[in-house]
Amino acid sequence: MRAVVCERWGHYRDLSLREMPAPPLRPGTVRIGVHYAAASFGTTVMVAGRYQRAFELPFVPGVEVSGVILEAADDVRQFSPGDRVCAALDHGGLADEAIATAHTVYPVPDEVSLDIAAAMPLTYGTACAALRWAARLRRGQTLLVNGAAGGVGLAAVEIGRQLGAEVVAVAGNADKLRAAEQHGAAHTLLADDELVQRVKALTGRRGVDLVIDPVGGAAFEAALHCLAQHGRIVVIGFASGQVPQIAANLLLVKNATVTGFNFGQYVGWGRVDERQRHARRVGAMMRMLLDWTAGGVLRPAVAARFELARFAEAFDEVLARRSVGRVLIEIGAGGAAVHRPTLSPAPIRSGARRA
Ligand SMILES: NC(=O)c1ccc[n+]([C@@H]2O[C@H](COP(=O)([O-])OP(=O)(O)OC[C@H]3O[C@@H](n4cnc5c(N)ncnc54)[C@H](OP(=O)(O)O)[C@@H]3O)[C@@H](O)[C@H]2O)c1
Repeated sequence: MRAVVCERWGHYRDLSLREMPAPPLRPGTVRIGVHYAAASFGTTVMVAGRYQRAFELPFVPGVEVSGVILEAADDVRQFSPGDRVCAALDHGGLADEAIATAHTVYPVPDEVSLDIAAAMPLTYGTACAALRWAARLRRGQTLLVNGAAGGVGLAAVEIGRQLGAEVVAVAGNADKLRAAEQHGAAHTLLADDELVQRVKALTGRRGVDLVIDPVGGAAFEAALHCLAQHGRIVVIGFASGQVPQIAANLLLVKNATVTGFNFGQYVGWGRVDERQRHARRVGAMMRMLLDWTAGGVLRPAVAARFELARFAEAFDEVLARRSVGRVLIEIGAGGAAVHRPTLSPAPIRSGARRA
């Protein structure tokens, strides 16, 4: 099979595309014919050797995919060849075939296309779990989302709205703010020096109840100043490259809470592999997200697609901060894989089933 291989820690441009034997099926796993893999910021950090999780070299990067089951181990009853699925992987997604433990594979309803489904297991999974389990979002609360047009950010905008929040989207330019609005943000604000004042004006000086922060650095610090009394800020990541220092006096004055959230812990990426323990809870959440997507409530944005041979350009696109939603690498889906800009989304429908 074709695979993108990381032989030494470094830049994603140093990864090589080559032929290699398909990985063996193990008990408890399935073989997926990969149609789409997400090109994420996190993957660039993984191949640089700077991720919180260790990999043994050489390895095939790619942790979020969609495709079709080719084969299931004898002890896996819930999947059969031909099933359309999406999956969170330990690694191995940038290849024609990937092995996934059945605990982190999710059936994709017929109404949901496999390109859109590729962003579900980690991007939408992270945003939803962060909002429900870490932020403990309640209907009517105000939710500020940093990096609101990025993968996790745009998912948090859509899911936050669906969970009943009044979403304030913060992003770096007007096009991204427009996209966030089309995906359900009630208010949109540029990430600039006046952000704190604008949030105060918007909320009658009260501030926001919750913040989802995948950006870190100055964006985190500004968001901390935007918090209302008893507000909560959820640390998701550091796309800015800066891990912020927290002024504890601000937490005291505001009775505020800072919560870290690592979805990887729920899909087997922790020091202790807890994927089995969390499989039922994560599986129920994924069913809900995929049902919402089938019903038109969520409309994950595909920012651009690149064929496997152009994987480096996919990561260029992510790091250039041009993308709205997820950039995909098209692998086994067939058809012309070209760089296409985000389509203008149709209006969001509400009222789908909630798990
Ligand atoms: N905790 C978890 O479980 C978990 C799960 C998934 C991802 N993550 C992490 O969350 C972060 C965001 O992931 P993502 O996939 O949403 O990334 P993404 O699609 O690239 O979006 C990141 C956003 O951050 C903003 N940004 C600000 N400064 C930036 C900079 N210097 N370089 C790049 N982007 C910058 C950009 O928005 P503007 O241009 O509008 O500012 C961009 O849209 C990453 O650190 C990732 O590792 C964590």
